[in-house]
Amino acid sequence: MTIRHPELAVLGGAPTFTEALHVGRPNVLDQDAFLDRVRGALDRKWLTAFGPLVAEFEQRLADLAGVAHCVATCNASVAMQVLLRSAGLTGEVVMPSFTFIATAHTALWEGLVPVFADIDERTGNIDPEHARRLVTDRTAAIVAVHLWGHPAPVEQLTELAAEHDVPLLFDSAHAIGSQHHGRPVGGFGSAEVFSFHATKFVNAFEGGAVLTDDGDLADRVRRVHNYGRGKGEDVAYLGTNAKMTEVCAAMGLTSLENMSELIAVNIARHERYRAGLRDVPGLTLREPRPFDSVNHQYIVVEVDQDVAGVSRDELAAALRAENVLVRTHFHPGCHRTEPYVRDPAKHTPLPLPRSEALGERVISLPTGTGVRPEQVDQLCELIGRIARQGDRVSSAVTPS
Ligand SMILES: Cc1ncc(COP(=O)(O)O)c(C=O)c1O
Repeated sequence: MTIRHPELAVLGGAPTFTEALHVGRPNVLDQDAFLDRVRGALDRKWLTAFGPLVAEFEQRLADLAGVAHCVATCNASVAMQVLLRSAGLTGEVVMPSFTFIATAHTALWEGLVPVFADIDERTGNIDPEHARRLVTDRTAAIVAVHLWGHPAPVEQLTELAAEHDVPLLFDSAHAIGSQHHGRPVGGFGSAEVFSFHATKFVNAFEGGAVLTDDGDLADRVRRVHNYGRGKGEDVAYLGTNAKMTEVCAAMGLTSLENMSELIAVNIARHERYRAGLRDVPGLTLREPRPFDSVNHQYIVVEVDQDVAGVSRDELAAALRAENVLVRTHFHPGCHRTEPYVRDPAKHTPLPLPRSEALGERVISLPTGTGVRPEQVDQLCELIGRIARQGDRVSSAVTPS
């Protein structure tokens, strides 16, 4: 990364934060409840394969999302692979490029062809009108992402998928606990996939889950995630081992029990950032749309370099030098990443200017239980100082 003005990287002296602040610092909560559950599994000598903790986790997730079926898995990437395989898809999958690489990789891994659509810059989510231009008779499915926990345009995508009679699937890795028009994420489209990776605010060390109302699809997912077998020895499909362990379910259940409190902490941090950044010109904190409620597990700020006096990359470098380990999700987009970048005609038939532009402007800041409220204030004050210093340096270098 090039820093335009090296003096922006360090404000002088020791870093502002002696201990690093991370984005996605794992929540480790209620260790006693977790360990009691693990002890129960050890006493039962039932460590994996249809154990009671996984069954309870699946039931709680299904209840939360208001769906009939849930299959917990070892992680969300494999959950999505199992889902794509179980849905019997062949051909192309229209999806956003502006997402974590796993969204694309899982489709390619299953022999499908990711075709990337642009986003609505206001939300970062897939633009249904752009997606519409990419749907052809080769399209097998649409995969949308509820980016940063903000629900995708569910109604328009549902309409588009129905018009072309293809399934609509959601990569909901970021979105447990979010709602769209009062309906919980997890119950939209043909199926949704949650992630419980350690960096997600509800975590199971590693974990994922497929949620659906479709009983046949759920049955295939359950078999495919267990070597193609049911509970007995019969093998009905080509399968894999994607099962969640009891120890992961113990962590998932303990996290889930605390989800409301975690969202309350996330909201409190978000409000603190909103107040702290209000007077920093050129920086806009991403807010949910009025008809959505979101889990606020990400603090995403858009940097308008012309107004802020620093670019996103300069701000990121300066903050990292102060021990604030910010992230720049999702840059470059999947279409600029191996192996997709090698075959634009196949994966990127239309330009994606909005994905590219937003990818250069956004920064994710630390939040959740890993950041104390007064550290948020300190961080906002630091960001203000960096921006003012950048402004001074810029105007000194380029006199108007
Ligand atoms: C949008 C998105 N999809 C998929 C995944 C993959 O999840 P997992 O790490 O559980 O495989 C992630 C992980 O961070 C993600 O951010």
